[in-house]
Amino acid sequence: MSTVLSAVAWPYANGPRHIGHVAGFGVPSDVFSRYMRMAGHDVLMISGTDEHGTPILVAADAEGVPARELADRNNRTIVEDLVALGLSYDLFTRTTTRNHYQVVQDMFVAVRDNGYMIEQLTSGAVSPSTGRTLPDRYIEGTCPICNTPGARGDQCDACGNQLDPTDLIDPVSRINGETPEFVETSHWFLDLPALAAELEHWLDEREETGLWRPNVIRFSQNILEDIKPRAMTRDIDWGIPVPDWEDQPNKRLYVWFDAVIGYLSASIEWARRSGDPEAWRTWWNDPDTLAYYFMGKDNIVFHSQIWPAELLAQNGKGDKGGRPGKFGELKLPTEVVSSEFLTMEGKKFSSSKGVVIYVRDMLERYQPDALRYYICAAGPENQDADFTWVDFVTRTNNELVAGWGNLVNRTAAMIAKNVGEIPAAGDLEEIDEKLLASIRKGFGTVGHYIETHHQRSAIAEAMRLVGETNRYVSETEPFKLKAPEQRERLLTVLHVLAQAVTDLNTMLAPFLPFSANAVEKTLGGERQMAPLPRIEEVEDLDGGPSYPVITGDYTDVPAWEHRPVTVGAPVSKPTPVFVKLDPAIAEEELERLEAVAAEQE
Ligand code: MF3
Ligand code: ZN
Repeated sequence: MSTVLSAVAWPYANGPRHIGHVAGFGVPSDVFSRYMRMAGHDVLMISGTDEHGTPILVAADAEGVPARELADRNNRTIVEDLVALGLSYDLFTRTTTRNHYQVVQDMFVAVRDNGYMIEQLTSGAVSPSTGRTLPDRYIEGTCPICNTPGARGDQCDACGNQLDPTDLIDPVSRINGETPEFVETSHWFLDLPALAAELEHWLDEREETGLWRPNVIRFSQNILEDIKPRAMTRDIDWGIPVPDWEDQPNKRLYVWFDAVIGYLSASIEWARRSGDPEAWRTWWNDPDTLAYYFMGKDNIVFHSQIWPAELLAQNGKGDKGGRPGKFGELKLPTEVVSSEFLTMEGKKFSSSKGVVIYVRDMLERYQPDALRYYICAAGPENQDADFTWVDFVTRTNNELVAGWGNLVNRTAAMIAKNVGEIPAAGDLEEIDEKLLASIRKGFGTVGHYIETHHQRSAIAEAMRLVGETNRYVSETEPFKLKAPEQRERLLTVLHVLAQAVTDLNTMLAPFLPFSANAVEKTLGGERQMAPLPRIEEVEDLDGGPSYPVITGDYTDVPAWEHRPVTVGAPVSKPTPVFVKLDPAIAEEELERLEAVAAEQE
């Protein structure tokens, strides 16, 4: 048994999340965490909404509301959506808690005191007409990397690169179109070059495990080549105050400096709420902990460079030495599990224009397990993937409904009609033994795939076993075993089927938690197969405003192994677990998207 940290990327609270987001950080981390709990590990799964920085301010400016108000609203929406999708966070919190502010400031001080924050003069933009500082987000120009106009002073949305205002070609103020003046101003920079040797050493070690996805490890090693100090404070008035610069309220800690520390602060918040304030140390100070980070590929640099650099600096482990800060020696990532992008309908629609499929809209109309299934089976695990409605309908109907749903349904229906309870088996024939043996072997195969982040292969293997079981029905033809002398054979086949469905249901539980619970009941079982998360309104631990969190009790889960069915458990006529989709919805959904796109023109 290991202790396992499931560190899930923090969604920006600048708007509701779309299915591309949950395909990147959400479903993969949940499948993994659910499996690891079933395999007997001690999992801590944490995240929250990322509420500082430009994305929130830009959205708040556009609406004319204060940043905090916008963040509150989106935090709640995101919390509700992630719960509706069944994501089993031990704690999903936010970056605006007082606990997070404190932990971030403590980290900053520890890193600075070890010598890894250097103060440098840089050019800051001011408005020539007012003489006031122009925050990064109010400066716009052409991106020096991809040449797209309209890039902001902190980031280009077109290519996703992080920028400095001085990088922009032809910068102008978004407030009044004037050309900003640049004056010297002071900022704190993370001394990445002083941490580069240790980062390289750590990455080499990680590479040797052979576990990281090749493009993730390669990218991470490449960006070490021209490593430079990076500004960890910004000219912005929304963010965590910089320790000892409280007299400069227009300078705050950079959103990415603070957001990644959320993994630590959320673990601490979880521990404080659990009644054992030191409990977080199990996942952070023990070198044997396994720490997995889940995200989309635009987040890699922050998880394979900035965050490990912050950890090394806090630990006092770079060229400048030092000693561990108040958090002790913190564990670096075991693996950065990054997925690629999910496009929608062949890039016909663009997320930067807001023409996307929101999680909320999808879950209002379709079952959460249908979306989870699609993401697991066809998601952007190793390369970009494209979501199409036609594909969604096809996979739901052909695989979930006609494959797994149909197997569950006919097994339960035959048992209900012929027996009314799970029958005992007579002597097993070779075909029975063979099926049961295949499925038992599946626990090893499917489990290994999930543990090594090959979820597409994992679910494909589980579904292959579903197919094998459906073929078993065609071959044994229990519906034809009607004569009295065939009764014993009938009961044996039904027993074998009940056993197969029960074990397949265990194997599918990490992917399809809602239906796993329903399938168990259909076969007369009482086991909770997949505990679901809940929303709790909590008080801020240090006197800030209250807020909703996602939490849950996930300790009571079935083991990842064969579990004998209970002979005699009552089985009544089933209601189908999955909803079959009308093929016409593909056309309707496309029209809906086209209507949104037309509105945006
Ligand atoms: N908010 C960022 C995004 O949505 C992700 C932050 S991950 C964190 O891309 F760990 F840094 F918080
Ligand atoms: Zn660009």
